[in-house]
Amino acid sequence: MDTWNPSSWRNKPILQQPEYPQQSDLQAVESQLRELPPLVFIDEVQELTKQLARVTEGNAFLLQGGDCAESFADFNTLNIQDTCKVILQMAVVLTFAGSCPVVKVGRLAGQFAKPRSADTETVDGVALPSYRGDMVNDIAFTAAARIPDPQRLIRAYHQSAATLNLLRAFTKGGLADLHQVHQWNLEFVKGSPLGNQYQNLADRIGEALAFMEACGVTLKDTPSIRETTVYTSHEALLLNYEEALTRRDEMAGDWYDCSAHMLWIGERTHQLDKAHIEFARGIKNPIGIKIGPSIDSDELLRLIDALNPSNEPGRLTIIVRMGDRIADTLPLLIRTVEREGRKVMWSSDPMHGNTITTSHGIKTRSFDKILEEVRNFFEIQNSEGTYAGGIHCEMTGQNVTECTGGAQGITEKELTDKYFTYCDPRLNANQALELAFLLSAFLKKARAGKKVS
Ligand code: PEP
Ligand code: CO
Repeated sequence: MDTWNPSSWRNKPILQQPEYPQQSDLQAVESQLRELPPLVFIDEVQELTKQLARVTEGNAFLLQGGDCAESFADFNTLNIQDTCKVILQMAVVLTFAGSCPVVKVGRLAGQFAKPRSADTETVDGVALPSYRGDMVNDIAFTAAARIPDPQRLIRAYHQSAATLNLLRAFTKGGLADLHQVHQWNLEFVKGSPLGNQYQNLADRIGEALAFMEACGVTLKDTPSIRETTVYTSHEALLLNYEEALTRRDEMAGDWYDCSAHMLWIGERTHQLDKAHIEFARGIKNPIGIKIGPSIDSDELLRLIDALNPSNEPGRLTIIVRMGDRIADTLPLLIRTVEREGRKVMWSSDPMHGNTITTSHGIKTRSFDKILEEVRNFFEIQNSEGTYAGGIHCEMTGQNVTECTGGAQGITEKELTDKYFTYCDPRLNANQALELAFLLSAFLKKARAGKKVS
C-alpha cells in the first residue's frame, strides 16, 4: 500500500476536529494511550470480518445499534446491561424470522465523539462552541465546559474498557444463554403489546430447545446456544485517539485499530482526499461508510476502491442514510456497484436522514418515517436483486421518550417526559423491539427471495 502508516492521515486536510488549547497536552495524552493495552484483540476483529463476509454473501444479517453518543454521566451497569438485553432481544427476533445468524455490533465502548453541522451553538443570543461528545468537551452550556480537554480521551478509553468487560461477562457468562430468552425482557416492556409478542416468541424458542433436548441433543454444553458475541463499533472521528490505539499484527505485519472491532466513517468526513479516508484505508478492521443522498455513483466507487482495493467481502459495509431521498438515489448506486463487481454489504441507517426539530425546538424522529425508510431499503434491494444485509439504529434499553410514535404512540408533547440523549434521539426498548418484529417480516421475505411488500 502506497505510503500508508498510522499517522499518514496527518498529511491530509481534516474536518470536524476539536481545537485543543495546548497541543502539548494532547501529545502527552497520545503517548499515554499508546502505552495502554488494546481494547479489542486482533483475532476478534478478524472473526468479525469473517462474520460480515457471511452477511455480504447473503448468509447472515447485521444488527448494529446503541447510543448516538455515550456519556460519562450515564455510565452504569444497568444501562449497559439493558442495551445489551435489547440487542439480544432484537437479534433473537430476527434470527427466528430470517432463520439466519445475526451478527451483533454495538454502538458502544467508544461512541463518544460527534461530528456537528455547526461549529457553534447559540442559546438566548449567546454563541458557544458546539458540544462534540464527552470525549471532547462537556455538554453544559458554559464557555468553560465547551473547551476541549484531551484528558477526556483517557477517560473515554477507561470507560470503554469497563464497558467491554461487562459486555464480555454478559455475553459469555450465562445472560446470553438462549434458555434465558424470557429474562432478556425489560420491566417496562413486559405487559406491553410488544412485550407479549416477545414472550410468545420466547415460549416458542423454549419449546424448540426442549424438543431438541428431548431428542437427545445436548444443548447445555453447546457454545452457540449458551453464549454469544456482541462486537463493538464507533465512528472513527478523533484520529489522534484512533492512531494511538492502532497496533501491528506482528505475524502478518497488518495494522489494526484496537479501539473497537468495527469503525465507521461518518457522512461528514468521507471525502476521498481527506484524513479520515486516509486513516481508514490502512487499518484492517471492518469499515463502515455512511452515505447520504448527495453522493454520486462515481464518488462511491472511488471510495470503495480506496477502502477495499482487494475487493474482500466483509471488509466494507455501506451504511445508507437517505431519508425520503432513498428511492431516487439508492438504485443507481446499487446498479453501479453491482455492475463493477464490488463486494460490499448494504446496511440501512433509517435514523439520520429522518431527524426533525419540533415547533418546541426538540430534535426527534418519527417511528413511521424510520420504518418507511427500512421498508424502502428492503424493497429497493429486492428489486435490484441485491441483499439487504443489515440495520444500523440509535437505541437504548432505557424507557426514554425521544422518538415519536410506535405502538406506545409517543406524541410530540410527551417527548420532554424522558428525553435524556446527549445527541440524537434514540428508539426506546419497546420501539426497538417493534422495529425488529416489523423488520423480521421484510427479512423473512428477502430471505425467501420473494418481493417485499
Ligand atoms: C451518527 O451515526 O451519529 C452520525 C453522526 O451519523 P452520520 O454520519 O450518518 O450523520
Ligand atoms: Co446520531
